[in-house]
Amino acid sequence: MINIALPKGRLGEKVYKMLEKAGYACDEFDKDSRKLIFTDEKNGVQYFWVKPSDVPIYVQRGAADVGVAGKDILLEYDADVYEMLDLKIGKCRMAVAAKNGYRDDLSKPLVVATKFVNIAKEFYAGKNRDIDIIKLSGSIELAPILGMSDVIVDIVETGTTLKENDLGVIETILPISARLIVNKAKYKFKNDEIDNMVQNLKKELPDD
Ligand code: PRP
Repeated sequence: MINIALPKGRLGEKVYKMLEKAGYACDEFDKDSRKLIFTDEKNGVQYFWVKPSDVPIYVQRGAADVGVAGKDILLEYDADVYEMLDLKIGKCRMAVAAKNGYRDDLSKPLVVATKFVNIAKEFYAGKNRDIDIIKLSGSIELAPILGMSDVIVDIVETGTTLKENDLGVIETILPISARLIVNKAKYKFKNDEIDNMVQNLKKELPDD
């Protein structure tokens, strides 16, 4: 049996479809149910629906053998897991954005609002730019609109949220996509099963 932590939401549903095609269907799986665990003895899989940012914790602690998390989450939480495969879905980018027409004032620390504190700190440390971080949990775009921050560091997928709020990308930090992650100890015990899963998933990857 392989235990799989899936990120709740749209990405998780896409990942499940990919796993289903790769031979890991679960008869009782239902994205609309409030159940959190789904098991299929026949296919030897058990799925957990997990809050996306918690997936690395479940995998690092071995509650799940494998999981799927965005590269953003893996970088931000620095989990001690193996990153086995780029699933090439959930593609977006981590970017710096600001109000259209914004000009940086290098004489002052840059005020940065973000959910991704570690990614932002590392990015600006690499540029030797002093920053003042404001950690938010969502609707990050509001911060520069209300004058609370100069810029935001956030995920941009279609760019619609920025556009509709009169904001624009200043710099791209890095491209993001979903990754298959594996618990280090479980990889030793379930080596064949997990390697098979990786090989089966490789056949289902979308084209670049
Ligand atoms: C993410 C991100 C942006 C939006 C970008 O928010 O924080 O707000 O998606 O997508 P777009 O470029 O396609 O418009 P999410 O939906 O995760 O909600 P949040 O505000 O709680 O972070």
